Amino acid sequence: MKVIRIADEFRRWCADGRDNGKSLGFVPTMGALHAGHMSLVKAARDANDLVAVSVFVNPTQFNNPEDLRTYPRTEEADLALLEAAGVDAAFVPSVDQMYPEPDTRVFDLGPVAEVMEGKMRPGHFNGVAQVVSLLFRMAMPTRAYFGEKDFQQIAVIRRMVELEGFSLEIVPVPIKREDDGLAMSSRNVRLTPAMRDAAPAIHRVLSQAVDYARSHTPAETTAMVEREINAVDGLETEYFQIVDGTTCLPISDWAESAAPVGCVTVYAGDVRLIDNIKFI
Ligand code: PAF
Repeated sequence: MKVIRIADEFRRWCADGRDNGKSLGFVPTMGALHAGHMSLVKAARDANDLVAVSVFVNPTQFNNPEDLRTYPRTEEADLALLEAAGVDAAFVPSVDQMYPEPDTRVFDLGPVAEVMEGKMRPGHFNGVAQVVSLLFRMAMPTRAYFGEKDFQQIAVIRRMVELEGFSLEIVPVPIKREDDGLAMSSRNVRLTPAMRDAAPAIHRVLSQAVDYARSHTPAETTAMVEREINAVDGLETEYFQIVDGTTCLPISDWAESAAPVGCVTVYAGDVRLIDNIKFI
């Protein structure tokens, strides 16, 4: 596996692959890799001639400096995992390589970026759009892979791709869960043992909500999810919203969406966990 730290070198490596007629699967990550990321890598490996993975903790998408400071960084272990998974190139740039000049672009991401995470973390999605658009410009991949845990992020990236006119396929990959149902996340390592014991309740309640929804309205289902998660010691919901899976806009009647999704953010102590469940 080639480890590339210089943006121009990464650009050249990807262009060489294209010139040789190879398809490129690209997995952007912020490192601290776990089995969830590796399922994206596997999907990319299965469908492309070449696979590149970026490992970059993007400062422009953190609206909380403490969150950026404490974000786990495990480069050596990440590179070992990627090598073992048969990745062809790992791109591990510095902040200066990604942003030789401050990125002042403001993307017109529209309503999809104004709800849920967009509302709670102002500027977050603009930062995601900035870094992913820069990475796409460098790599110009055939396909790019994103985890469905960050459900709204995929909708935002689709919008950015449309705005920028990139010609590539966005491939969503289902959430990878621990045996007890907790969605895998780089943030899970920061959970105390007590919080780690409490956290699987999030997926348990979301799964119960799918049954509950068969005889209750979205508002009633929302109230149930919030009540049940908040009843668990140490967990506190920031929001739970039932939205349309494409627009990410809230629905008040099941008939309003062919693919409703319930998205939740929960604080387990000071660790912010997100998860979601499809209702159909
Ligand atoms: O989902 C993530 O890990 C990040 O938001 C991404 C897409 C790698 C951009 O920094």
